[in-house]
Amino acid sequence: MNKIKKDILILGIESSCDETAAAVLHNGRIVANIISNQEVHRQYGGVVPELASRAHQQNIVPTVDAALRKAKVSPQQLSAVGVTAGPGLQGALLVGLSFAKSMSMALGIPLIGVHHMQAHILANFIEDASGQAPQFPFLALTVSGGHTQLVLVRDYFEMELLGQTLDDAVGEAFDKTAQILGLPYPGGPEIDRLAQQGNPHAFRFPIPKVEGLDFSFSGLKTSVLYFLRKKQNEDPEFIRKHLVDIAASVQYTIIEILTGKIQKAVSQTGIKRLVLGGGVSANRGLRSRLAQLATSKGWELHVPRFEYTGDNAAMIAITAYLKYQKGIFDDLRLVPKARWQL
Ligand code: KG4
Ligand code: ZN
Repeated sequence: MNKIKKDILILGIESSCDETAAAVLHNGRIVANIISNQEVHRQYGGVVPELASRAHQQNIVPTVDAALRKAKVSPQQLSAVGVTAGPGLQGALLVGLSFAKSMSMALGIPLIGVHHMQAHILANFIEDASGQAPQFPFLALTVSGGHTQLVLVRDYFEMELLGQTLDDAVGEAFDKTAQILGLPYPGGPEIDRLAQQGNPHAFRFPIPKVEGLDFSFSGLKTSVLYFLRKKQNEDPEFIRKHLVDIAASVQYTIIEILTGKIQKAVSQTGIKRLVLGGGVSANRGLRSRLAQLATSKGWELHVPRFEYTGDNAAMIAITAYLKYQKGIFDDLRLVPKARWQL
């Protein structure tokens, strides 16, 4: 007789920044992945925390409802609810967390608090995320709008931070450069698109000298600003004429900073398995440079599918599922942690 395996259905909820997202995971597989973007921030050129909280409040019910309907799952069938508990914007986190607590209480199912940066890494364990799931140990580079981290991952929840940004996150470097160039927010995808058509060696920007495996990106923004000021004094049309080359050169510098530290981390740890995560891991220049390096240096590279790079709830659901299997649960005393060490 066939052994009947109990189905595990996890609802994942994400509301740490400017995406309200809900996903349903059936065993290891995503069966619904809904993301409501908040367009309201575009006009301000960045995320306005108070507006984010309000938009989450408006979006949370329809987003969760859409995910359950897409998955054809009723709330009563759920095994647990996983939710981002931090790090992120306090008021934004509070919306998702309060909602998840209510569901957990009403349905009598476990509540599982998820670390957003762990989730960006564990997104690579979604069954259809990036081909074969990575084996432990591996190095993870998480690159997003709020974080830039190099992490040694020994097991699902055994992560050691090897290095991180001392100032701006890499996503901010993209967004701030884009803002200087007059491009819409978020600027990362815009720079990525323009860089495809430009010459990465047209202009040279300095690579900061930072100790160990930490990063720094604030100097790049300043040097781009001064460079453009000078050039525009000579020719007010400079940006318009050289937009694709500026984008390609800035992106090249960012990729050099990131890959330089990865190479250092590989030689320090001897680990040649690299996993990428976070919004900036959608960047095509970064992906192709890392693929090139992986081939020439014999690394194993895992890059998540595009829908699992930026903020999403599928990564929250998979992390909650892994915790569920280990019996790691929270209770209603769980509070949002705007800052939360890995
Ligand atoms: O992980 P994410 O969605 O949110 C945070 O947790 O911050 O990352 C958002 C960041 C933004 O800075 C955005 O500009 C950047 O990811 N981003 C990109 C690309 N797509 C998104 N940066 C460079 N190239 C891209 N294709
Ligand atoms: Zn994120």
